Amino acid sequence: KEYNVAILGATGAVGRRMIDQLAKSTIPVKSVKLLASSRSAGTVLKFRDQDLTVEETTPDSFDGIDLVLSSAGGSVSKKFLPEAVKRGAVCVDNTSAFRMEEDVPLVVPEVNPDALKNHHGIIANPNCSTIQMVMALEPIRRKFGLKQIIVSTYQAASGAGQAAINELKKEAQDYLDGKDMQADAKILPTKGDKKHYPLAFNLLPQIDVLEDSGYSHEEWKMIHETKKIMLGDINAKDIKVTATCVRVPVPIAHGESVYFTVEDESATAQDIMDAVANFPGDVLQDDIKHQIYPQPINAEGRRETFVGRIRPDYENKGAFNMWVVADNLLKGAAWNTVENAEYLVKMNLI
Ligand code: A2P
Repeated sequence: KEYNVAILGATGAVGRRMIDQLAKSTIPVKSVKLLASSRSAGTVLKFRDQDLTVEETTPDSFDGIDLVLSSAGGSVSKKFLPEAVKRGAVCVDNTSAFRMEEDVPLVVPEVNPDALKNHHGIIANPNCSTIQMVMALEPIRRKFGLKQIIVSTYQAASGAGQAAINELKKEAQDYLDGKDMQADAKILPTKGDKKHYPLAFNLLPQIDVLEDSGYSHEEWKMIHETKKIMLGDINAKDIKVTATCVRVPVPIAHGESVYFTVEDESATAQDIMDAVANFPGDVLQDDIKHQIYPQPINAEGRRETFVGRIRPDYENKGAFNMWVVADNLLKGAAWNTVENAEYLVKMNLI
């Protein structure tokens, strides 16, 4: 079987990478339709060596489509994906629109592929920072059991879209030119909030909106998505999770400092390293003698999750620290979406 594929949000930072990842995927593609808003209708983008013209999205855009890959924002997904499902398409959605719905699988294919079997037309891609954390922790959970996760993130500007990368670059230039960069800040920390702050030469401990609980919505996502992916229930208590999410002036690839405790206290740092090194999709970069550890500039453009600085907490048994880096636009978004679609095809679920 060959598939008619639509990419919703094709002109965005993630959408453009979805086109590229689809071109490199094992999915037998019959046709590709590129969808965005009226703003970029008419733009020509390449899929393999074909020139494709971007179209404005309407419900009828999904007539005859088998597979939708979407990353055009939560409200756009809420509006159009039910229309696509009505017309017989299966959708892999990179937004947060449907992630917490009970009948929507939330899937990192290396971690919980069987959840795909329960789909009703929509599969959700987890948040970028959740994906790389569960990629690093799943091999450890399988071998030694997980009790608690305490994570601090160092998240790249591109998580807030292409416009946030442009904003960061302009601020950096203005700073170097001795100009005031406060006026440049229009998007970060998050479009949906009243105040905006520069990210260049700065750190912003706010990703997405701040909630009454005291946590940002990004932190909330990391906690509840991790539980849904690993335990099948957004409120499961078997693994305790807490998070601090920080935006850093890096264009692409998120870093995470992850502190975790395991059930099997006989596990050594070497055991943890072996488990990570043998997990598909993970690359162990941990050689302190040669100063080898994951860095965003090396992870950019790669599909894998990079893990290093694995070391015990010498004051607490069964507790460890590690450092995790992945390209937030690829494993955190476009690649995980296309990879989910590859699994759907392989598992005969489209
Ligand atoms: P457009 O280029 O027409 O604005 P990013 O995450 O990099 O900001 O990209 C967002 C993506 O979502 C872009 O492809 C953008 O298209 C698309 N998009 C935004 N609003 C809509 C909409 N109402 N309908 C369809 N696509 C949209």
